[in-house]
Amino acid sequence: MQKPTQPPPSCTTAALTIIKDNRTTTVYWLVATSIFSLLFILSLSTTSQPPSTPPPDPFLFPSRQPQNSPHHNRLLFLNQRSPSSPSLPTAPSIAYLISGSKNDSGRILRLLFAIYHPHNYYLLHLDLSAPQSDRDFLALTVHSIPVFKAAQNVNVIGKADFAYRKGSSSLSSTLHGASILLRISDNWDWFINLSASDYPLVTQDDLLHILSYLPKDLNFANHTSYIGWRESRRLKPIIVDPGLYLLEQNEIFYATQKRDLPDAYRIFTGPSSAILSRKFIEFCILGTDNLPRTLLMYLANVPSSLSVYFPTILCNSQQFNRTTINHGLQYTSFDTRQEPRHLNSSDFNDVIQSGAAFASPFLPDDPVLDRIDREILGRSPGKPLPGGWCLGEPENDTCAVWGDADILRPGPGARRLEKRIVELLSNGTFRSHQCVI
Ligand SMILES: *[C@@H]1O[C@H](CO)[C@@H](O)[C@H](O)[C@H]1NC(C)=O
Ligand SMILES: *[C@@H]1O[C@H](CO)[C@@H](O)[C@H](O)[C@H]1NC(C)=O
Ligand SMILES: *[C@@H]1O[C@H](CO)[C@@H](O)[C@H](O)[C@H]1NC(C)=O
Ligand SMILES: *[C@@H]1O[C@H](CO)[C@@H](O)[C@H](O)[C@H]1NC(C)=O
Ligand SMILES: *[C@@H]1O[C@H](CO)[C@@H](O)[C@H](O)[C@H]1NC(C)=O
Ligand SMILES: *[C@@H]1O[C@H](CO)[C@@H](O)[C@H](O)[C@H]1NC(C)=O
Ligand SMILES: *[C@@H]1O[C@H](CO)[C@@H](O)[C@H](O)[C@H]1NC(C)=O
Repeated sequence: MQKPTQPPPSCTTAALTIIKDNRTTTVYWLVATSIFSLLFILSLSTTSQPPSTPPPDPFLFPSRQPQNSPHHNRLLFLNQRSPSSPSLPTAPSIAYLISGSKNDSGRILRLLFAIYHPHNYYLLHLDLSAPQSDRDFLALTVHSIPVFKAAQNVNVIGKADFAYRKGSSSLSSTLHGASILLRISDNWDWFINLSASDYPLVTQDDLLHILSYLPKDLNFANHTSYIGWRESRRLKPIIVDPGLYLLEQNEIFYATQKRDLPDAYRIFTGPSSAILSRKFIEFCILGTDNLPRTLLMYLANVPSSLSVYFPTILCNSQQFNRTTINHGLQYTSFDTRQEPRHLNSSDFNDVIQSGAAFASPFLPDDPVLDRIDREILGRSPGKPLPGGWCLGEPENDTCAVWGDADILRPGPGARRLEKRIVELLSNGTFRSHQCVI
């Protein structure tokens, strides 16, 4: 297998042949053009990728190829998986939002390489505290990696948001990222929001392999309805987040009054790390139920809105309260003040034995990350994570030559993750830990 040299026929020429075939298909042509121009506008306004949408790479995605037969429907559904082999479970796909701020572009690239798989989608966001030159650097670097170009699955948000760690602007920027990802592709099944200080503990082949055996509506999110003094200190104050209305970085404004907790719905809190199903993200962003919007308005003036939003919607809607596993599959260790502490080499064994998929937070380029790369991910510095799609010589750059992205090669990480998920699902713990009040 080699990299593609000549692109299959372009969409516009195919559409024009349909017109010649039959006058009534003009409508389809119009619909197709408007969808493509929509994508065009979207990619112009939100991402830094070139506005053209070349066809999927024939080596990475042999099953997504446009057919040569003049079936005009194909044109409209170019991006969908072809239903050629319904019996084989296809690998699922994950949409990652990776956020960082000033000085984080190096860490974001490292994390991106460490969780890369051609099947997934990646959206990188450097918030407004980072200079535009960082964003440009990120976009140019991403554009220079051949496999990212072939898979067309890495995007950088060009018009950044402010994301204050404490206020609601980080929630707004997470929802912004999720809605861009919904537009970018119909294909992904789960949404994962990572920050630059997170790192994976399993390969993507491991994670995708395990997820392919689970129902696609499962959500993984730590949640509790227990509101102690620590939590109420973060829920009762009234703040105004400058990220929502000021262009310059500024202090958060605290009002002197406090307010009561809501009783129209039950508040649940949890760490913001979660693996959320596409159905749930659609419910939050496109749904007709109004809870996601009323809660959003309520949280506008709350100090820790990101830790409340997703768990509260999950547990207050009948549609999702039975689909939630009370564990975000992320390892975090807390210090005596209940703040997450930086993980280092001394934590390596605990972190790996936890069976989690991610861990957080790490300091930039901590030596433990090199150990994870070497022993767990099998990744060399500055190279994408190897997987079943890499066909190169092992001593050379294995991922410089690629094949079918549907082929997964899970390793020991899949066994650790499987064991953890079986524990979470077994023994009645799954039901008894769900959204309990
Ligand atoms: C930015 O990162 C560089 C290298 O990673 C480091 O030397 C520098 O101190 C950082 N600056 C800030 C403000 O964190
Ligand atoms: C999530 O919940 C599990 C079990 O209750 C706990 O061990 C873990 O530390 C929690 N994770 C985070 C990030 O708080
Ligand atoms: C999710 O994204 C927001 C901003 O987009 C960020 O502030 C937050 O830390 C992220 N959550 C995690 C768990 O990384
Ligand atoms: C989910 O919601 C329904 C209806 O409100 C309720 O009867 C059920 O107990 C809830 N399930 C859980 C696990 O909270
Ligand atoms: C890792 O961190 C812990 C506590 O934060 C510290 O006691 C330990 O010495 C650190 N280990 C290394 C190898 O830096
Ligand atoms: C390694 O890759 C280079 C460039 O792609 C190629 O010229 C060389 O023959 C490869 N070496 C081996 C041992 O495969
Ligand atoms: C089942 O529950 C018991 C008691 O709660 C616990 O000790 C055991 O570890 C659980 N087993 C699994 C596989 O979760």
